[in-house]
Amino acid sequence: MDVYILAIESSCDETSMAVVKNGCEVISLSITTQMDTHAKFGGVVPEIASRMHTEVITLVLEDCLEKANMKIEEMDAIAVTNKPGLTGSLMVGVEAAKTLAFLYNKPLIAVNHLIGHIYANNLESKMEYPLLALIVSGGHTELLIMEDDYKFKRLGETQDDAIGEAFDKVARVMGLSYPGGPSIEALAKTGKHTYELPKPVKEQDYNFSYSGLKSAVINLVNKEKKQKKEINKADLACSFQEVAIDELVRKVELALKNTNIKKLVVAGGVSANKYLKAKMEELCKKYQASLLIPRMLYCTDNAAMIGAAAYPKYLRKEFSDYSLDVSSSADICS
Ligand code: KG4
Ligand code: ZN
Repeated sequence: MDVYILAIESSCDETSMAVVKNGCEVISLSITTQMDTHAKFGGVVPEIASRMHTEVITLVLEDCLEKANMKIEEMDAIAVTNKPGLTGSLMVGVEAAKTLAFLYNKPLIAVNHLIGHIYANNLESKMEYPLLALIVSGGHTELLIMEDDYKFKRLGETQDDAIGEAFDKVARVMGLSYPGGPSIEALAKTGKHTYELPKPVKEQDYNFSYSGLKSAVINLVNKEKKQKKEINKADLACSFQEVAIDELVRKVELALKNTNIKKLVVAGGVSANKYLKAKMEELCKKYQASLLIPRMLYCTDNAAMIGAAAYPKYLRKEFSDYSLDVSSSADICS
């Protein structure tokens, strides 16, 4: 029997709902973004974010159901992101989900946002295990082995800043618009790798570090400003992007070599980056590994990925009760 899940995502600055069939088919997806509002402040303002979620959440629900041409009565479960993210933002989604689950007597499924990013890949093609999963988002940088559905083993993670955070902060100091990732990528296309920047981590382990690279760019920009020199923004964007992403490639290569796993999935907002995609394609070709990266729409925050990640939990009847709480930090492996 087909399973229809109504999924809700509101962990940061996107309010999104989706109807997902059998964990892999998107029947409808509705996303409203607050990006333009937060862009004025150079980053997400949590208080504004939660208020804006409350303003649009019922409209997003209506739009999502209308697009699906379905009613809540036809859903088999209500799924929602409950961690990690901004507490106030998460609460709006979780309270909406609890209300719908209670009113329509549907099971409630809690989804970890990062696991959602990984399962976005199931919307493209069914993930086959074991695989290596690289999560690269605004708040997280992790490399994991996935042995089966919901069976994770962490190889490494960032010791300080996440890669997306580094893109956003570097963009900010260069006077580029928020979010920084797409701005840097666009500018990097017209530049060359001319600036010498420190490579993040030298050890042969799987951990990442982006604060040194980020600080090096910030110091360089400030120094040039003081000396009233012009920086070549396109070249700096290109140099930063290449150093940041080449480090991901280096760690994934280490994992492909050491584990002999032949499948790689990439997840999270930074996986929308074309340079990253090209480099990972090259790497997978070298190791005869298959590569899965979601299309752009499913790379960044959306509720369809939450519906996809909720499906295995639905099959195992891993439901939450109405005491479900939100959490700002989350460990995938626990
Ligand atoms: O996954 P996501 O939408 O939200 C979080 O869960 O954090 O990721 C947002 C991050 C931001 O840091 C943004 O700058 C980055 O993803 N990003 C990119 C690109 N598009 C979004 N970074 C590099 N290149 C891109 N094209
Ligand atoms: Zn995300």
